[in-house]
Amino acid sequence: MEIINLEDLKHGNRVANYSIDLATKLNLSDYNISSIYLSGLFHDIGKSQLNQNILNKPGILTESEKAHINKHPFYSYREVLKMGYPKNIALDILYHHENWNGTGYPKGLKNLEIPLGARILKIMDVFDALTVERPYRKKLNINEALSIMDKEILTYDPTLYLLFTRYIAEKHKTSIIRSNFPNLSRILDNKYLYLRNEF
Ligand SMILES: [Fe+2]
Repeated sequence: MEIINLEDLKHGNRVANYSIDLATKLNLSDYNISSIYLSGLFHDIGKSQLNQNILNKPGILTESEKAHINKHPFYSYREVLKMGYPKNIALDILYHHENWNGTGYPKGLKNLEIPLGARILKIMDVFDALTVERPYRKKLNINEALSIMDKEILTYDPTLYLLFTRYIAEKHKTSIIRSNFPNLSRILDNKYLYLRNEF
């Protein structure tokens, strides 16, 4: 029997809610917003089909163990299609570990080749993972999480990343001091900034 871990379920729920907030800021249609919600909710559902000993293994994974874990977006995709959800939701899920700079998996898609929903999930998935407590570390505060994300800034859609920082600042009633995050200001001249006037 496949078992869904309660923590994964809660993570999916938080990512779904964060993603709705970001999608709302983009003025997406209600249909697209509800699609993104469902993509967030189910993005890691395929982890239930992984070898749980590998999934929960503490410490460093071997290459073959990593390859095994990296199959979860495909398992999630397949499961969501089996449940009868539309293909656009399944594709957001399949590509939620793709990186803006092409270094992600499963396909190494780049920039706007990655569906919008998947680009949103990518940011929210990482942010949530950093800001909850893990067995091996305490939860990070906003500035600590943004510092880590700043180092990987090229993996995120720059427009969405800027919207995300604004959203986090509003939600936590704080201000994000751009100079604290060395790469954040640099993305302002990214050629892919499709809401340039907003920033
Ligand atoms: Fe995932």
